[in-house]
Amino acid sequence: MQVDLNEGWAIGGVSIPTRLVLAPMAGVSVQAFRRQGRRFGAGLVCSEMVSVAGIQHRNERTLGYLRVAADEHPLAIQIFGSEPPAMAEAARMVEAAGADIVDINFGCPVKKVTKSGAGASLLDEPDHAARIVSAVAEATPLPVSVKMRRGTADGSRDCLAVGPRLVAAGAQSLTLHPRSAKQMYTGVADHSLTAELVSLVEVPVIASGDITSRARAQAVLATSGAAAVMVGRAAQGNPWALAEIMGTSVDPSREEVVAELLLFMRETVRELGEHRATGFLKKFYGWYLGRGRFPKPFKQELVMLPTIEEVETRLLAAAPGAREVLERLESELPEVDEVLLDSLPISIYGGG
Ligand SMILES: Cc1cc2nc3c(=O)[nH]c(=O)nc-3n(C[C@H](O)[C@H](O)[C@H](O)COP(=O)(O)O)c2cc1C
Repeated sequence: MQVDLNEGWAIGGVSIPTRLVLAPMAGVSVQAFRRQGRRFGAGLVCSEMVSVAGIQHRNERTLGYLRVAADEHPLAIQIFGSEPPAMAEAARMVEAAGADIVDINFGCPVKKVTKSGAGASLLDEPDHAARIVSAVAEATPLPVSVKMRRGTADGSRDCLAVGPRLVAAGAQSLTLHPRSAKQMYTGVADHSLTAELVSLVEVPVIASGDITSRARAQAVLATSGAAAVMVGRAAQGNPWALAEIMGTSVDPSREEVVAELLLFMRETVRELGEHRATGFLKKFYGWYLGRGRFPKPFKQELVMLPTIEEVETRLLAAAPGAREVLERLESELPEVDEVLLDSLPISIYGGG
């Protein structure tokens, strides 16, 4: 049965206009990425994982992740940590920041996170994981969702036991990336497990992993019964993949690619400040300009340039028509109207 990706659905009381969700990705899911994802068809976007310890210690960079622009909604902010009271406090901050959904990370496989008792390691501690979910659900009226892997060990089916417990503890949606933590990103996402999870819970399940095309999205939705698909790596430097999944296949011109990249750069400078943005953006040059769109040496040349201004000049020299496309994009974009947290130090809003 064909599933209509344009059909709305909901998590708790939050309406989501399409069945396409943009994945949370650390080092990627900045505001520019999320706003672009919404423009290209994602019905829900997510922040990257935000450290609960960082929130507790009022770490400036961490608090910066809680900045929400008016045109991002609906937006989930994802938190990770291991202690229920700290997670509850972080959930209240996420709510104050203006998020629509609080997402909890039980999927991160990175050692630095799992050894602190957070991320995917919580799949081995179902009682504790359930305590975290119920502490968060009690702390905020926002719907709580959980993103998880299949388990920590290869071949694990732990998500099928843990998932329903998390729902009983108050999770109103589950996202499953059906690889083990040990697998990291190797092998394939086994969405037959997603189908099993769907059959075990009453809440909507989001399928994450290896969704790279409309055909794949349709197949996973139809065979798993998931409420939505989540797209991560395929959308890096390639928002047109989201449009293709939504049914509007477009092969962007060089001018459009450069204009989207320039817009992304300008927004990222505004969000992170020039200094941080300079390093942060380097990986995006390859993502945007690759896929046969520009010759490889061009990307290498951009990465070597010391300032963002020089990258802009070089990009516009390579595709002069991009200036006009960029002007149109900028004029169509609503002004950034950020929700300010009056309990946060004002300085975090200064750096752009
Ligand atoms: C660079 C990178 C960073 C990621 N960071 C997060 C994160 O912060 N939180 C999370 O839940 N998942 C994170 N993920 C996992 C993705 O959300 C997604 O589940 C995974 O990449 C599989 O989907 P894909 O095949 O569409 O990329 C990350 C993945 C990548 C590649």
